[in-house]
Amino acid sequence: MDTLIKDIYPFFKEVFTSLGLEEDIWSHLIGPATIEGDYDIALPCHSLSRLMKKSPVDISEQIVTLFSNDVFSIAKVSSKNGFVNIGASPSWLEEQLSCILSDERLGVTNDNSRIFAVDYSAPNVAKEMHVGHLRSTVIGDSIVRLLLFKGHTVHRENHIGDWGTPFGMLIEHLLDLGEDKAAKELGVGDLDSFYKQARSKFESSEKFASRSRNRVVLLQGEDKETLRLWKILVSESMRYFNEVYSTLGVLLSDSDIKGESSYHDLLPIVIDRLSKSNILVNSDGADVVFPTKKWLNRKGDEMPVIIRKGDGGYNYSATDLACIIDRTERLNCTDLVYVVGTPQKQHFEMVFDIALMAGFMHEKHNATHVNFGSVLNKDGKILKSREGDVIKLVDLLSESISRANATIIEKNPNLSNDERLKVAKMIGIGAVKYADLSTERSKDYIFDWDKMLSLEGNTAPYLQYAHARICSIFSKSDISRSSLANSIFTIVDKEEQLLAKRLLSFPFIIEESISTYSPHKLCNYLHSLASSFGSFYENCPVLKNDDEKIIRSRLSLCDLTSRTLKLGLELLGIDTPEKM
Ligand code: ARG
Repeated sequence: MDTLIKDIYPFFKEVFTSLGLEEDIWSHLIGPATIEGDYDIALPCHSLSRLMKKSPVDISEQIVTLFSNDVFSIAKVSSKNGFVNIGASPSWLEEQLSCILSDERLGVTNDNSRIFAVDYSAPNVAKEMHVGHLRSTVIGDSIVRLLLFKGHTVHRENHIGDWGTPFGMLIEHLLDLGEDKAAKELGVGDLDSFYKQARSKFESSEKFASRSRNRVVLLQGEDKETLRLWKILVSESMRYFNEVYSTLGVLLSDSDIKGESSYHDLLPIVIDRLSKSNILVNSDGADVVFPTKKWLNRKGDEMPVIIRKGDGGYNYSATDLACIIDRTERLNCTDLVYVVGTPQKQHFEMVFDIALMAGFMHEKHNATHVNFGSVLNKDGKILKSREGDVIKLVDLLSESISRANATIIEKNPNLSNDERLKVAKMIGIGAVKYADLSTERSKDYIFDWDKMLSLEGNTAPYLQYAHARICSIFSKSDISRSSLANSIFTIVDKEEQLLAKRLLSFPFIIEESISTYSPHKLCNYLHSLASSFGSFYENCPVLKNDDEKIIRSRLSLCDLTSRTLKLGLELLGIDTPEKM
């Protein structure tokens, strides 16, 4: 209802000027009406009471009488309990709807101003991607789509864990298995057993452990043969990760990989710059920094961030500092977004703090940890496989597709085999993504097959079904979508009004989802849009109508609803079948 506020504002201004009140006293009071219904925006007069020496009820009544008559083409105005209430008029709604009907972007403006680095997915080489990485991948991808749609420049950064001490033991294990066999295991996604075997040998055999330690030294010294073996680990793991990405249909590609190893050359520069800023201190042989904000450990001692350990090895934080330099200075990013689980909250707070202290980023940069909660099973525990292992993501995704397939066979037996398989993928993957996206990200959510695949409730299949239903209305009508472009709306019934208002709030919801990095706001909106479409369709006959003007107006509402659902889902990374 931002547009309504904009259009009504001059009328308020006129009234308040006549009352002798400056803009800064009243302008911030205008906001959305608290209950969605007859009115859309409200101005509470309670805080004006003392100044105007009148009761809020009297003030609101006076304001209403002072409005010029021209306001009625835009809205109806009334006062109640000290509030001035404004409700969009049908003619205003009709005019606004016409504007978005001919707009491909459905009213969303193109801002094209900022440069973002969005750090997401970031699985670890030779380790299974767990459901936490799934969340990061799905949420991050939706944020990227939203930002790109608003016209911003976006660098997708897949900060994979491809460096560090575990690589010593992983390479030695690869040699023990033989390169071919090892590559096979990794490429099909048996990453967890590979990692576990290496770990258990490292723990039980001193000989293997010492080989592994030597291997780390060789890796850090960039020994050619060691690097070749390391690359096998990375590329075979990536083969598996890419399979997950392609099944998920996310935007990430090989060119977005910017793993920990790629910041290698910047690490000595990090040390150098921290020490030139006089914030690097030596503590028990390690190079550390104490951030400005104090973090205390359990004993109550101030905690430093270790940049370089006593043995010369760099920490995760050092890499993230290098990464900030790369993003702010090489890529010229204004906004750094990290889609990483809540357990890393303190890590990012400390790193951002140090980056500001050291001048790796400045006031003008916005660094945000877009944190998220865990995925739980129905008992409220972290989601694991039946055997208690990390769940293999490919298995999880194929299960979702096959469950969706079974539902469609039941619902729509007429779909051809090919079509059904395509639709099953859209529904199965959409369901998993949407379950993740529709939960407020900082909260945990329960992974529940029946709920996420249900055709009712706040789910992807419900929205996809609403979209497909509208497509079928058009297939039954003689009026084509393209002939609707210049239609004139006639908004009469209250269901039409509610649907119209929701359609018009799409740009505002996109803004809000972006400014808070909260795709769930878009999900909730799409759900409310689809449900108001449901009541519209039930109460306002579209094709079974004698009045051609009404048919066109209602078909145009159908068209706008399906386009909004399609675009909204697309921005969440979810496909919309035309039939299901
Ligand atoms: N690989 C890390 C993990 O699995 C996540 C990396 C997130 N990104 C970053 N710049 N630290 O926990």
